[in-house]
Amino acid sequence: MSKTIKLITGTVDKSYKHSVEDYKSNRGFNALHRAINMDKEDIIQEVIDSKLLGRGGAAFPTGLKWKYLNNIEGEPKYIVCNADEGEPGTFKDRLFMKRDPLIVIEGMLIAGYVFNSKEGYIYIRGEYRGLFEGFKLALKNAKQAGYLGKNILGIEEFDFDIKIISGAGAYVCGENSTLLNSIEGQAGRPRVKPPRLAEVGLFGQPTLVNNVETFANIPIILDRGPEYYRSVGTEESGGSLIICMSGHAKNKHYAEIPVGTNLKDIIYDEELAGGTSTGRPVKFVHIGGQSGPLAFPEQFDISFDHITLKKEGLAIGTGAIVIADDSVCLVDYLKKVFEFFIHESCGKCNPCREGNQQMYAILDKFSKGEGSEKDLEILKNLAYAMEQASFCGLGQAAPTALMSALKHREEEFLAHIDKNCSKCFK
Ligand SMILES: Cc1cc2nc3c(=O)[nH]c(=O)nc-3n(C[C@H](O)[C@H](O)[C@H](O)COP(=O)(O)O)c2cc1C
Repeated sequence: MSKTIKLITGTVDKSYKHSVEDYKSNRGFNALHRAINMDKEDIIQEVIDSKLLGRGGAAFPTGLKWKYLNNIEGEPKYIVCNADEGEPGTFKDRLFMKRDPLIVIEGMLIAGYVFNSKEGYIYIRGEYRGLFEGFKLALKNAKQAGYLGKNILGIEEFDFDIKIISGAGAYVCGENSTLLNSIEGQAGRPRVKPPRLAEVGLFGQPTLVNNVETFANIPIILDRGPEYYRSVGTEESGGSLIICMSGHAKNKHYAEIPVGTNLKDIIYDEELAGGTSTGRPVKFVHIGGQSGPLAFPEQFDISFDHITLKKEGLAIGTGAIVIADDSVCLVDYLKKVFEFFIHESCGKCNPCREGNQQMYAILDKFSKGEGSEKDLEILKNLAYAMEQASFCGLGQAAPTALMSALKHREEEFLAHIDKNCSKCFK
């Protein structure tokens, strides 16, 4: 039986991309047509019932986020689509932006309708500038067909338009408050929370921020209904996931799978990652991006869903699956992780700005055979301090991979103290 499904990528592989007519011939805009005849509370209830958890990394329940915003007074409200996709090993959002932009636009439009918003923004990472023209064309076609602009579908006061904003290549700008600062033309640094962005968001107004894949789920939920949608997924986490397989994966590609697929299948099934390209055993899998944990073989037999993974100290994050074979030195790999965070730290807070540098420096000692057991303690304490005291999710999550490595493979660090690593000490 196939391990992949096409719940939300059903129209991705069609060739039309930007044509509203073709999109409509594949059930496109059905959801919006249905939504405008529904009570707004009922729309939100269907999103709640779908058990869709946000696909941007934090897995916050989308329906609850929408309900919270709905209870906030004040207009205008803004709709923001997070298309920053900065997490290494993640290439799922660009799939929709490039090959099915109208499904993202429809998801944003439904949110616009629910919250009586007039303006939406899609913040696309600067490195994806090749996708801008296609997305603009989809917006233009939607406008010409009466799906954007004033009095959409003839409904008085249903006015909604979407602006494209280009990022400039900073990972931290994917963090939702930083992203709003960046749209406002301020430096890409996070805001203190609370207040929540639903209360004080873009230009000080109540704001919804959802990820591209999250928005792409909305038309499916409202077109087919939450029960149909939940025929896929687990009790507590509905629908499908787009996973991105890379690193030493034999098959480097994306795939749509039901939430709750066994992680072993993701790693070894020929339709998914298919094991390693080198034929060597899998040593670990880095899940959910650089800010995610490492999973080791004894943990692979597990349901890949948000709730089960969390209990095991793992997380889906952005759906990145980076496979490392046994030629990879753990210490060396973690140094690369911290190099990334040193580069991407915005410098606003000490724990992140200094912590990442210190982590790297200590790991470097280990790879030179100069590390000690005391250094291991310092690594653990520093990781705790970063998690607890960093200003935003970047610094808080930077030590996640290291912590999982120390929990499950401390012996590999100890081996470096004895200069007993065949990769570092030849
Ligand atoms: C450092 C950092 C980078 C992030 N980058 C992204 C990103 O590129 N895309 C994204 O959708 N969410 C990103 N997030 C998560 C967002 O802050 C936010 O949770 C998400 O956009 C909410 O959408 P969702 O509820 O649909 O998942 C990032 C978070 C942090 C801390």
